Amino acid sequence: MIVRVVRGKAVDAPGGYGAAVTGELVAAIDQGTTSSRCIVFDRAGEIVSVAQREHRQFFPQPGWVEHDAEEIWANVQQVVLEALAAAGAGPDGLAAVGITNQRETTVVWDRATGKPVAPAIVWQDTRTGPLLRELAEAYDEKRLRARTGLTLATYFAGPKLRWLLDHVDGLRARAERGEVLFGTIDSWLIWKLTGRHVTDVTNASRTMLMDLATLDWDPELLDALRVPAAMLPEIRSSAEVYGTAEGVLAGVPVASALGDQQSALFGQTCFQPGEAKCTYGTGSFLLLNTGASPVTSGHGLLTTVAYQIDGQPPVYALEGAIAVTGSLVQWLRDNLGLISTAPQIEELARTVDDNGGCYVVPAFSGLFAPHWRSDARGVIAGLTGYITKGHLARAVLEASAWQTREVVDAMNADSDVALRRLRVDGGMTGNALLMQFLADVLDVPVVRSRITETTCLGAAYAAGLAVGFWPDLATLREQWSSDAQWQPAMDPAHRERELRNWRKAVQRTLDWVD
Ligand SMILES: Nc1ncnc2c1ncn2[C@@H]1O[C@H](COP(=O)(O)OP(=O)(O)OP(=O)(O)O)[C@@H](O)[C@H]1O
Ligand SMILES: [Mg+2]
Repeated sequence: MIVRVVRGKAVDAPGGYGAAVTGELVAAIDQGTTSSRCIVFDRAGEIVSVAQREHRQFFPQPGWVEHDAEEIWANVQQVVLEALAAAGAGPDGLAAVGITNQRETTVVWDRATGKPVAPAIVWQDTRTGPLLRELAEAYDEKRLRARTGLTLATYFAGPKLRWLLDHVDGLRARAERGEVLFGTIDSWLIWKLTGRHVTDVTNASRTMLMDLATLDWDPELLDALRVPAAMLPEIRSSAEVYGTAEGVLAGVPVASALGDQQSALFGQTCFQPGEAKCTYGTGSFLLLNTGASPVTSGHGLLTTVAYQIDGQPPVYALEGAIAVTGSLVQWLRDNLGLISTAPQIEELARTVDDNGGCYVVPAFSGLFAPHWRSDARGVIAGLTGYITKGHLARAVLEASAWQTREVVDAMNADSDVALRRLRVDGGMTGNALLMQFLADVLDVPVVRSRITETTCLGAAYAAGLAVGFWPDLATLREQWSSDAQWQPAMDPAHRERELRNWRKAVQRTLDWVD
């Protein structure tokens, strides 16, 4: 457990609550892949308190990744209590609470008991590979892309739901009778908090079941994936009051839901078409605001809903999703034991001057954007007797930058204007060596926002807008500022040589899984 108090007053104060004025704060719950956080913000968008708890990752078979939705719910309640205590506030100190979440992770629960019927299948899980090959024969990928903005990949929620319907005894019949409910994590949490079964457009756009134009469940896709409509949540905008919370947040309006990456885009205040950000967490996700119309990618990017404010038309984004970046650093820490904390990787990488000719391509869940190859698996290429753990650490960091480069190249190819600078946030952006290398390989400035917890900030902003705590987008925009910037400094010939090597290494990952 981590409880960081940035400006809290009353963690141990006798009498507990009372330091905060009624309704002068907004909280955000960020239910991520590795942990759940609650952050309390004030009207200036400044962090008042943070609480965070990790949850267990289950790997029952190679390629399978599961979470316990009950554990997640317990952690969420805990971090809410801890963050409120650290802020010296009770629920009545909050004008609203917003939710942001790991996307695509799939939960099915019993409507009557509220218990999950099976472990949650996490977005990184590749068990639906064979199912997708089947689906590819029945459903044209081009049509799927046009309808949903997505590609046929194990990543998305719909196939995971189908897997559960096929493998949990009696589940399909119960789903048809409306006895069990499906939801991504946003839906699960809103249901637990308010008893309402809803989801927001950004999360729904990651199911492979929603029509990107109508923003409604698509009967043809439900049919193709054999998903009973009775188990689906109602799709709502990203910023509106879904209901009033009970329990730890009693009386607080639950007023936003956004997938974590869309939320970070919102928190970075990328409200104008052409504005982009990349968030470096477990994976990394570059989103470009494309405005009122969905742009279909010809280069392996996804089309997704960026956000929708209640009563307004949706805003769309192009997305480059990279599955493994920060989790590769965790792998170096937990599976290889070469470091004991993630930030130590920088020190280890600085023991050498370069990668020594070594490249790590972390295709742990296949390759996501722009390749979308579920048959790929990770490689360490260019190994010689010369390579030390320092080189390996460097190659691990460089992998995040090169993967970003591939996505930026795709984005530049898809849009008329080339990316001029990149706004970044997330845990890995604390790594100065990586940030410089990123600027070097992208050949554009990299700008870090002052508040790196933009995922939470976006959900807080959306919830605050929904209840009138903040008046408009322009006000939020004024609150954004950066705290660091890195300028490209790499010799172009060197960059090209390294890029060629990276591409060769990527080729080595392909055609691994039969
Ligand atoms: N200094 C660092 N250098 C490199 N990687 C780092 C550093 N600090 C953190 N990380 C990596 O960043 C990730 C944590 O970032 P962050 O807290 O933004 O992710 P997260 O939001 O918890 O992820 P998720 O929401 O997916 O659970 C971890 O994977 C960790 O390995
Ligand atoms: Mg996160």
